[in-house]
Amino acid sequence: MFLQRRNRITRRSAAIRSLVAETVLTPNDFILPIFIDEGENIKYEIPSMPGYFRYSLDNTVKEVKELWKMGIKSVLLFVKCDDKVKDNTGKESWNKNGLMQRSISAIKDAVPEMVVMTDVALDPYSEYGHDGIVDIASGYILNDETVDALTLMSLSHAEAGADFIAPSDMMDGRIGAFRKALEENNFSNVGIMSYSAKYASCFYGPFRDALDSAPGFGDKKTYQMNYANRIEAINETLQDVEQGADIVMVKPAMAYLDIIREVKNAVTIPVSAYHVSGEYAMIKAAAKMGWLDEDKLILESLTSIKRAGADLIATYFAKDAVKLLG
Ligand code: PBG
Repeated sequence: MFLQRRNRITRRSAAIRSLVAETVLTPNDFILPIFIDEGENIKYEIPSMPGYFRYSLDNTVKEVKELWKMGIKSVLLFVKCDDKVKDNTGKESWNKNGLMQRSISAIKDAVPEMVVMTDVALDPYSEYGHDGIVDIASGYILNDETVDALTLMSLSHAEAGADFIAPSDMMDGRIGAFRKALEENNFSNVGIMSYSAKYASCFYGPFRDALDSAPGFGDKKTYQMNYANRIEAINETLQDVEQGADIVMVKPAMAYLDIIREVKNAVTIPVSAYHVSGEYAMIKAAAKMGWLDEDKLILESLTSIKRAGADLIATYFAKDAVKLLG
């Protein structure tokens, strides 16, 4: 055959393929979520996340030092609270000596350059496992009261030394409220990575095991987005940009690559994607069964998320990926 164009020429060898690769993962792309518990010398393997651990703060600090050496530059912190401190106001979330606040300062002391991001939502502190304050009579999650509580939480994270707060609560108007509070309290350099398009997803199951934070009643569908919706994600995201978000996020990732791409095309600030706990669990399960190759799955999944438009990826596979990228 005479062919004017042979597409396979640029696929002929690994070297050629690497020359024309459009998407290249690097350690700079990753944010590693970290689960922290009270106590000492704890390294607890989360049953639904094999190979992933919840650490006490002493072990967390050791881990973060290792991460920095490996080239991972950002961590996203989550804490597990004792049932005793949970209530319907979430007030433990702005306790200056709370586990989150102590963790932020211990990590910044140990590795000052590590970019510390913190989850902002009430679920680990809520006796009902909801991201906001519950109106007991109706079961509805109160918007404005929750934003007030989360504002106090955000300021306490900033005071402890957080580089970015990462609101995952999906209340209306929170980004503007946090930005204003940060400006007014001399934290104008603290960034906001907003979970802008966060869907009500069954992929968060293992995470709720990790933090013992599953909702005590109902679900999160009155605040997190309906997975049937696409245009709404753009609307949410543009509002967060307008209100002062520095980075926007789509969550989960693999089942939402279309949303990542649309958000990327709609904004001019960095876009992140959260490759969530259930996505981690699925890969681990398939690999454990011997049905799929774990290393290849990790790289293909993360590259696809980046190709879809994510500038940053929060993923439990950050360490594995850095090792695989060698
Ligand atoms: C809390 C929060 C959740 C996740 C991140 N922040 C759970 C939820 O909304 O129920 C999920 C992360 C994951 O599944 O890896 N608001």
